[in-house]
Parts: sequence; structure tokens; C-alpha cells
Amino acid sequence: MLIERMPNHAAAVLSKPSLLLFGAGGHARVVADAVLCSGQWGVVLASDRDARVCTGDLLPGVAMVTLSGLPTAQGPACALHVSIGHNASRQREAMLLGLEWLATVVHPSASVSAHAFVAAGCFIAAQSVLAPGAQLGIGVVINHAAVVDHEVRIGAFSHIAPGAVLGGAAQIGARVLVGAGAVVLPGVSVCDDAVIGAGAVVSAHVLVAGTWAGVPARKLK
Ligand SMILES: CC(C)(COP(=O)(O)OP(=O)(O)OC[C@H]1O[C@@H](n2cnc3c(N)ncnc32)[C@H](O)[C@@H]1OP(=O)(O)O)[C@@H](O)C(=O)NCCC(=O)NCCS
Repeated sequence: MLIERMPNHAAAVLSKPSLLLFGAGGHARVVADAVLCSGQWGVVLASDRDARVCTGDLLPGVAMVTLSGLPTAQGPACALHVSIGHNASRQREAMLLGLEWLATVVHPSASVSAHAFVAAGCFIAAQSVLAPGAQLGIGVVINHAAVVDHEVRIGAFSHIAPGAVLGGAAQIGARVLVGAGAVVLPGVSVCDDAVIGAGAVVSAHVLVAGTWAGVPARKLK
């Protein structure tokens, strides 16, 4: 479902909250698509710190605006989502913009247990699964078709890439990238700031930050 672009944002449907997506890249388009599918928000705008990209729309129905060009009426009532795939950048912008305004975006096709805990500012993409007891910290990304099994804990601003699988009770630190299709076996821990390569199988605790890849995963550097 597409929300029609409003020629005057003040004329928007005010019964629903407004949302500003902060980001202008491919990940932001994926988030915008989920937002539009959800139908949960009245006005959806997008922005970033680069004025050059603030022309045209991020997607049809999602206008790019400059931060200074935001309608003042939206002010603090406007929820924010930092739609940046890179973990450290997403964390930095979230801290600058203010954690208190962060909204979580969930694609309607995601399966999120009522017994999962999801903090503010997360993005849960299409076809992903969050099992009972899963816990996501602030600003976590669960990308397309990733599976987060029961009792998994994921630290703030981590990114679980498309198709990755986190086995039951796996513990993922903060700002971790789990690459596309990677598997973290049940009960295994991955420390803060680690990068897990695409297709890796993490069968033992990752106690040192750095890049880990392969089957079983070994430290690359
Ligand atoms: C693991 C990874 C981070 C390494 O990236 P990098 O630091 O740029 O490393 P390089 O591409 O220089 O590769 C270094 C070596 O590791 C190997 N390698 C790279 N990625 C690998 C992977 N996923 N599994 C196994 N080996 C891998 C390369 O073949 C190369 O081997 P060589 O030295 O024998 O030639 C990256 O390849 C990767 O898998 N990123 C995850 C991407 C992803 O899923 N993103 C999600 C976006 S939503």
C-alpha cells in the first residue's frame, strides 16, 4: 500500500503518528517499503545529513526533506527511525537525534512472538522470525528472512543480515554484523563489534572482536 504524497504535510491524516526516516540509501528504501506496507504511520518523510540527496522521493510516497525543512508542527511529536544499515553510523545518528524519539518498524509479514522483547529503534524486515523470549536492544536490524530463535539476546545496534539464523539462547553483543546466511549455533556468544562473514557457521564463542568467517568460523583479521 502506498501513502499518497501530501502537497501540504499539515493536511495529512493526523489520526496516525508521523514518522521521519533518517537515511537515504538502499537500507532506508527497504525500511520505507516496510513502513508503507504497515500503514501504521500518517505522514512518512525521509532525510539525511547530505542536502544533495534531498531531491525527489526515497520511494513513491516518501518525500526527501532537509532536517531544517521539517514542518515545525511535527516537532517532538514526530517519531524517528534511523534507517542506516551500517552499525556504527546508525548508533552515532541515533545518539545525535535523541534515543527518546526512536520508533521501531516491523514489516507486516514478519513473525514476532508476543513474548519477544523489542527495544526502540529496531527494524524487523519481511519474512523474519522472532521466537518467544528473544530480546533485541535499541536500534537492532533483523533483515529479510533472518531467524532469531527462542531466548536469543542481541545487543544494541547490531545487524542480523538476510537469511541469517541465530540458534536458541545465542548471545549477540552490541554493534555485531552477522552476515547474510550465517548461522550462530544455539547457546554460542558473539562479543561486541564482531563481524561474522556471509555463510559462516559460528560453532564456538567469539570472544575477540574482528572479522570471523568460514565453516566453522575462524578469525580472518
Ligand atoms: C567476511 C567479510 C566481512 C570480509 O570482508 P573483507 O574484510 O573485505 O575481506 P576480503 O573480501 O578482503 O576477503 C579476505 C579473505 O577472506 C575470504 N572471505 C571473504 N568473505 C568470506 C566469507 N564470507 N566466508 C569465507 N571466506 C571469506 C576472501 O576470499 C579472502 O580470502 P583470501 O585472502 O584467501 O583471498 C565479508 O566478505 C562478508 O562476508 N561480509 C558480510 C556481508 C553481508 O552479509 N552483508 C549484509 C548486508 S545486509
